[in-house]
Amino acid sequence: MRTALITGAARGQGLSHARRLTDLGWAVILADVLDEVGAASAQELRNAGHRADYLHLDVSDPDSWAEVAEFVRDTCGTLDGLVNNAGIINVAPLTDETLQTWNRILSVNLTGTFLGLQTLEPLLRDGSGVVNVSSVFGPVGAAGYAAYCSSKSGIIGLTKVAALELAPRRIRVNAICPGGVSTEMNANEPEGGVANDTPFGRRAVVEEISGTVAFLLGDDSSFITGTEITIDGGLTAK
Ligand SMILES: NC(=O)c1ccc[n+]([C@@H]2O[C@H](COP(=O)([O-])OP(=O)(O)OC[C@H]3O[C@@H](n4cnc5c(N)ncnc54)[C@H](O)[C@@H]3O)[C@@H](O)[C@H]2O)c1
Repeated sequence: MRTALITGAARGQGLSHARRLTDLGWAVILADVLDEVGAASAQELRNAGHRADYLHLDVSDPDSWAEVAEFVRDTCGTLDGLVNNAGIINVAPLTDETLQTWNRILSVNLTGTFLGLQTLEPLLRDGSGVVNVSSVFGPVGAAGYAAYCSSKSGIIGLTKVAALELAPRRIRVNAICPGGVSTEMNANEPEGGVANDTPFGRRAVVEEISGTVAFLLGDDSSFITGTEITIDGGLTAK
């Protein structure tokens, strides 16, 4: 049985990716800072007959990653998939952004992805797959999102470097760039904004992102590495 570790998987897109992968026969390790929610999500998957564990992980903390690596070593030994999905957002004009918030967003979104790759690389099986979750606000800028855009843009560069360095082991590293997706992250935003700008006239539902994650971790994408797939209902086609 193949095993994937998904960060930020207590809820939202990460949990949806876990559901999709378990439906395809994978075992999953959900990792998050929301311990109660994450444990309940893993339980829900086990109740449905799947193999799922929950682990506490603050992706910005190298010690926390070391504990996760120890768990992986002791339980399954190696991983077949890693989804660096955990992320946070903040909206502020460039001139109002505090250094503290800037550093926090970079440390969770970008450094968290770097630490995941660096810590778990020795445990990734040859031929395995990594998906790093960027955003359309990576290749494209958005006023008010200096830290978020910078972190998501950085993930694309990091993805390409990791893909090159891990190619000799046939480990494929790709990024996804979702447009607006209805989750807790944007629950307080009016539905209008991104949805109105999107040619499809709505945000995605989480399941519409998970198919691409499963594809990028699966055998059908065996020659795809070092690139990003945009899933945005046409938002950036304009
Ligand atoms: N919702 C959108 O419109 C959208 C669009 C493009 C990209 N994304 C990205 O998709 C990913 C998933 O977000 P979502 O939409 O499911 O939102 P979400 O807020 O529901 O999920 C994010 C998850 O990350 C976890 N997390 C936050 N900080 C963490 C940390 N330090 N360590 C471990 N886990 C942490 C949260 O607890 C949460 O479970 C994020 O990287 C986000 O930036 C979201």
